[in-house]
Amino acid sequence: MAKQPFALLWPSYFAFSLPVCGLAGLLFATAGHATDASTFHNAPSSASSVANPYSGQTSAVTAGAALYAAHCASCHGAIGQGTGNIPALAHGATQQASAGALFWFITQGSVNNGMPSWAALPAQQRWQIVSYLKVLPTVKATSAAQDEAIASPITTPPPHPPFTDFRYEAPGKVRKITVADLPAPYATSSAGNAPTVVPRPADVIPRAPEGFKVNLYAEGLGTPRVIRVAPNGDIFLAESGSGQIRIFRGMTAEGKPGQTDVFATHLDKPYGIAFYPQGPNPQWVYVGNTNAVVRFPYRNGDLQARGKAEHVVDLPHGPGHWTRDVAFSLDNKTMYVAVGSASNVDDSDTSPAEKDRANILAFDPDGSNKRVYAWGIRNPSGIAIDPKNGQLWTTVNERDGLGDNLVPDYITSVREGGFYGWPWWYMGAHQDPRHAGKHPELKDRVITPDVILQPHNASLQIAFYEASRFPKEYDGDLFAAEHGSWNKATRVGYELIRIPRHHTGKASGEYEDFLTGFVLPNGQVWGRPVSVTAAPDGSLLVTDDGSNSIWRVDYVGAKH
Ligand code: HEC
Repeated sequence: MAKQPFALLWPSYFAFSLPVCGLAGLLFATAGHATDASTFHNAPSSASSVANPYSGQTSAVTAGAALYAAHCASCHGAIGQGTGNIPALAHGATQQASAGALFWFITQGSVNNGMPSWAALPAQQRWQIVSYLKVLPTVKATSAAQDEAIASPITTPPPHPPFTDFRYEAPGKVRKITVADLPAPYATSSAGNAPTVVPRPADVIPRAPEGFKVNLYAEGLGTPRVIRVAPNGDIFLAESGSGQIRIFRGMTAEGKPGQTDVFATHLDKPYGIAFYPQGPNPQWVYVGNTNAVVRFPYRNGDLQARGKAEHVVDLPHGPGHWTRDVAFSLDNKTMYVAVGSASNVDDSDTSPAEKDRANILAFDPDGSNKRVYAWGIRNPSGIAIDPKNGQLWTTVNERDGLGDNLVPDYITSVREGGFYGWPWWYMGAHQDPRHAGKHPELKDRVITPDVILQPHNASLQIAFYEASRFPKEYDGDLFAAEHGSWNKATRVGYELIRIPRHHTGKASGEYEDFLTGFVLPNGQVWGRPVSVTAAPDGSLLVTDDGSNSIWRVDYVGAKH
């Protein structure tokens, strides 16, 4: 896809990034998008009933194709397949909407959500685009579209440290960003640069620091997302795309699973997985569906759920961030559930869709007694409890639309009752210009997070390293999976990072590139890290929903 950043200054909320193009469309089509022609993005019926004056004209379709390639393909994909997080147009709501509703929507845009208004194009051209949208399902990928994707060179100048991009990510490179490094809002424009994921070239695998060896653990999965290890050593994987939980058992000499089974199916975008109660004999496996927490009865050794999913509690859901991570406090009294925002930066005071979102919620383990544990956390996509002291940590996707180097994603220990800024403030007392003047009383309450990451990294999951296979200095460190940017001129993220804690249990703000190489030198993306856990043998397993596989990183000792 074109690397040319768009000179645009509109915000958008898709930082969390869905995986593969087709799936993105699918999920978005079901995630609150109207499928009924009369309600497509709330288009008024007067607009929806207007007929396309160029309907049936081949010349309009041809003209529309050129306009689509020039204005729309960079975000929605060459053949409307959707890219990263941006909805598909070749199927789903767009194909069900009336021509008039599409014309109306393209004219308006959905500016706060990253879809520009095309009112500046002459009406004739907008109708021509509508004509073309309706034939998209029949358009096949041409080699021209592919060639364009492959050829696009990276021409942006090198980044200004401490900010970086994929070209400069390298295993072992230590980084530290402080609040003093942050540019002003809109210092650069905001790019629409979502990846179209390409197949992994056969000779490419991720790169780890010296002394570590990487191998492919499993492939052909259905959007592998959160990965967690049960107390008995079985490895649980949420396949969010296929709506199931898979289990892997054992590790062969080649670093592959000894056995695999499907634990549960028919889940609704399952993500978080937690075993309850903690300790050697859990009785339940909790799963965070996008709209509810459910749980399965469980005994050590079960390869398939021994009973039906039991409903624990409904969760706010709908548009925007769909992942729901789940974790339990060490004393088993509290269930934490992370619920990301519905929008990029809508005002939660006035937007009903934001109720109980952009929060870490707390419940009793039976789903009762809901409270807000911490708030103003735009998308806390991953939560984890430090096994040494019970401290809750999270990794967060911050907002878009303020430029290449704002607002940083972050990893932080979470304070009960803590306010982390969204949507009115960020990174301490910095006001979001889109909410100028609002909530002055909160200015000094905004917590600055422990570890400031590259803006737009899309940090999705964290795990504490408690195994003993890696060198001593890794004990108690955090690893985090960075899914990778869409809102930045040159990609950043697409890596696994390490947060060294130097045996202190605290993070000093520094982090280190650990597993890189998911982006090819020409900027094409073949892999997207989502989640990480330490396998019973102490190697790391990293899920990748770009290549739908799991990577294993083992320590084999420094070269001599
Ligand atoms: C910078 C990225 C970007 C560009 C360029 C862009 N769009 Fe979009 N488009 C989006 C995003 C993001 C959404 C989702 C908005 C929302 O959910 O409110 C969207 C939504 C849509 C939808 C509604 C899809 C649905 O399932 O609800 C249509 C139709 C659409 N765009 C058409 C177009 C057309 C036609 C063009 C070119 C003239 C275009 N877009 C250019 C980002 C873009």
